[in-house]
Amino acid sequence: MVGYEQFIRRILREMKDKTQLVVRYHERTKHHPNRYARSPGFLDWENEPDPFRRYEGATVLPLPLGEEDPDGDYRDLYERGKNQFQPFTLRNISKFLELSLGLSAWKSYGGAKWALRMTPSSGNLHPTEAYVILVLSESNHRGGVCHYSPFLHALELRAAFDERLWLRIKDYCGGSGFFIGLSSVYWRESWKYGERAYRYCNQDIGHAMAALSFAGNLLGWKMTYLNSLSDQDVGTLLGFQKTDWIRYESERPEAMFFVHDYSEINAPADVPREIVDSFGSLSYIGEPNSLSNDHRDWEVIEEVSSAAEKERSQVAKYRYREYPFPEEEVPSKQAASVIRQRRSALAFDARTALPKENFLAMLDKTLPRDNAAPFDLGLGETSVDLLIFVHRVSGLEQGLYFFLREESHLGEIRRRCRQDFLWEKGDGKSGSVGLYFLKRGDFQNEGAKAG
Ligand SMILES: Cc1cc2nc3c(=O)[nH]c(=O)nc-3n(C[C@H](O)[C@H](O)[C@H](O)COP(=O)(O)O)c2cc1C
Repeated sequence: MVGYEQFIRRILREMKDKTQLVVRYHERTKHHPNRYARSPGFLDWENEPDPFRRYEGATVLPLPLGEEDPDGDYRDLYERGKNQFQPFTLRNISKFLELSLGLSAWKSYGGAKWALRMTPSSGNLHPTEAYVILVLSESNHRGGVCHYSPFLHALELRAAFDERLWLRIKDYCGGSGFFIGLSSVYWRESWKYGERAYRYCNQDIGHAMAALSFAGNLLGWKMTYLNSLSDQDVGTLLGFQKTDWIRYESERPEAMFFVHDYSEINAPADVPREIVDSFGSLSYIGEPNSLSNDHRDWEVIEEVSSAAEKERSQVAKYRYREYPFPEEEVPSKQAASVIRQRRSALAFDARTALPKENFLAMLDKTLPRDNAAPFDLGLGETSVDLLIFVHRVSGLEQGLYFFLREESHLGEIRRRCRQDFLWEKGDGKSGSVGLYFLKRGDFQNEGAKAG
């Protein structure tokens, strides 16, 4: 008994140490008004990391391009009701990957050429890689673990299942659906951002998950985050422990999802240990390409990512609210063309104002809802709320606002804020539900500093 108590005390102590390490990283890598977080301070173009992973020697399975985009308008990116389920064919998986993580354009300037993608990425560095684990052919029991190459718009087959594993997976998935796993290459971000790279990789993973969830939704598919798996399990499923990584260029397993028919409420939320272990005995083919000739070691990134490594846990189910979507919306537009035309805002004219309804509709889209993309992946509790500098929204006073994505946070946040904030609540219309007015004024300078 004493031994057990000591064991529990040790585990709790280790957890506390790890949490403190992550908090220390967070504090250390914040930008301050008079001091930036540590970074190289210049761009070492000679060693700019290749934004595209390839596995040399792996079989390339080209995916069809130029297929008709799924129907569905802007609202169908979020809502699920109208999107008809499409079968899990390679053709549809191709659409899913193209409309989420695929290339959207090539640009060139002064002799340099670079790709844009459906997802945004900090510095356009794209640290996120994706893998699918799927049945490739019903007729001859083929299937395997494949890397998705956006550059080729192809799958690189890294490991083929034997028939026994194929049948077990098929049986476990209820015969329909596939897995998608995400990883990060920290070096792609630390090359430019130094110590902050770990933060940016996490944010990019968020963008990739949302993009996949939206594209899947248009095909009538839902993604469920397999939140019981450890990072180690995800690495085993993707063959990372059996890959010869170049130092500083290894990929870190981030998350695994099961993609299924959205109406299937009993889709698996876990992968049994024996199936995970079976992946450990597959042969993984292909050498990862070299991304840079030389590297710089940012030790703190290794330290924080080890401290934040996820262990195996019980399956957790998360429920969100059922807010209705606002009636008044932007004019209807085909969802796929919204995705293809997505671009980051670069310049504002400092004059044009955003109508209040559009501003509120944007806030509304950040609310986690049950049975609506992208927040019903089952990631966890809502923990991020928005502090907003409103400069030019017609119909809304200029000033500082808080948008609470989870209203039960009000007491705690209010206690931690300045006493003179107003905390005047929005007018109750959809989108203004969690919106609080804190302080009147022109905060353009403060906003620019915070950005
Ligand atoms: C996590 C994250 C942080 C970003 N930070 C900035 C930023 O500070 N300033 C900026 O101009 N763009 C920022 N961007 C936008 C990227 O520069 C942009 O996504 C990338 O260059 C690709 O361009 P596109 O989004 O138009 O495809 C950020 C994007 C992400 C995902």
